[in-house]
Amino acid sequence: MRLITPVLLSLLSLTFASPPPRPPPRPPGHGHGKEKYPLVGYGLENPLGPTTGGADGPIVTVCTVEALQSAVAGTEPRTVLLDGSFELPEPLQVGSNKSLLGVGRSGGRITKNGISILNGTNVILRNLYVGFIEGGDGLAIQGSTRVWVDHNEFESDMDHGPDYYDGQVDIVRASDWITVSWNYFHDHWKSSLVGNSDALRDVDFGHLHITYHHNHWKNSGTRGPAGRFGHQHIYNNLYTSFRYQAIHSRSDNQMLVEGNVFRGPNTGEALSTYGLVVPADSPNTSPDGDFEIDGFVNLGARNDWGPATVNITQVGNFTETGYRYELTPLWKVGREVERGAGLGRI
Ligand SMILES: *[C@@H]1O[C@H](CO)[C@@H](O)[C@H](O)[C@H]1NC(C)=O
Ligand SMILES: *[C@@H]1O[C@H](CO)[C@@H](O)[C@H](O)[C@H]1NC(C)=O
Ligand SMILES: *[C@@H]1O[C@H](CO)[C@@H](O)[C@H](O)[C@H]1NC(C)=O
Ligand SMILES: *[C@@H]1O[C@H](CO)[C@@H](O)[C@H](O)[C@H]1NC(C)=O
Repeated sequence: MRLITPVLLSLLSLTFASPPPRPPPRPPGHGHGKEKYPLVGYGLENPLGPTTGGADGPIVTVCTVEALQSAVAGTEPRTVLLDGSFELPEPLQVGSNKSLLGVGRSGGRITKNGISILNGTNVILRNLYVGFIEGGDGLAIQGSTRVWVDHNEFESDMDHGPDYYDGQVDIVRASDWITVSWNYFHDHWKSSLVGNSDALRDVDFGHLHITYHHNHWKNSGTRGPAGRFGHQHIYNNLYTSFRYQAIHSRSDNQMLVEGNVFRGPNTGEALSTYGLVVPADSPNTSPDGDFEIDGFVNLGARNDWGPATVNITQVGNFTETGYRYELTPLWKVGREVERGAGLGRI
């Protein structure tokens, strides 16, 4: 009996134990549940699990650079509301399990230095303005997984030429499972580079799964985006006056491209897979252009290339994303992206 009683007791306590407490409902702004602009694509459906950012942690509001820097540090889950403008003295290092949400119609405003996610996971960035960044990229995602970059505005100018500013959103070093959606990228030469070096081929190969959807690129030079070594699904984006190489798949990269719309004036090449990076990309470092091997493209639903040209040298095998998504009808893409992308929409 002595032995049996504790067993019986523990069985009873198992049977009558109250259910584990439910997690608190996620605060809005994390793209889950019934939001108007939910998270879709590799940031949601991937082998590591959905990107939730800081949804399980406390919410803090910051209005100084120092408060911002400490709120985004560490790996504890936290939602950080950026209220106002932040002229950063150095790139902002964002730790894992964070949501950075800009407040109000003009968003949280980041200038001078950009945002860096280095060897992290599970980060959400929404309703942020990132403009005229002089020290490196607007957003650099390195060695990181599960990132959602949504409804932000990235801006600089074309007057300083191609080599003055760096990228707007660069995704490198085996980063993976990322969604870049509803952003307004404009007045910038080299927009979004995926995989930044041939020397990192073995590191990058088989990673760099990124969904780009419903972004508006306007008055840009190259890299909308440019990909090496990975897989990117590029759908329902709007390109207005994209001058040189917009969507560029090279160095064995695979892209699935569908339902995108190109408009003039001054629009160059919508889509290409040949290895040459045009001299207009980086004339100071590569005056003759940069020679790589070709990439691959698959075309899904019809695109509207408008006045832009297309040069596909190799068709690949990336025909299925493995996740659920809904295409906006082609005739609606221009209006919906113009109305929906950028700040003050979420
Ligand atoms: C936060 O992120 C780290 C990865 O850097 C992960 O290992 C950890 O489980 C996360 N913490 C919480 C509380 O979710
Ligand atoms: C990031 O990860 C890379 C690859 O594992 C490593 O070489 C590098 O030292 C890490 N950097 C930091 C700051 O943790
Ligand atoms: C496409 O690119 C290849 C490789 O650069 C080039 O040889 C070919 O002439 C181009 N085709 C068109 C139609 O521009
Ligand atoms: C897809 O094509 C690439 C490049 O030719 C090849 O390396 C890869 O093995 C192919 N994948 C499948 C599943 O056929």
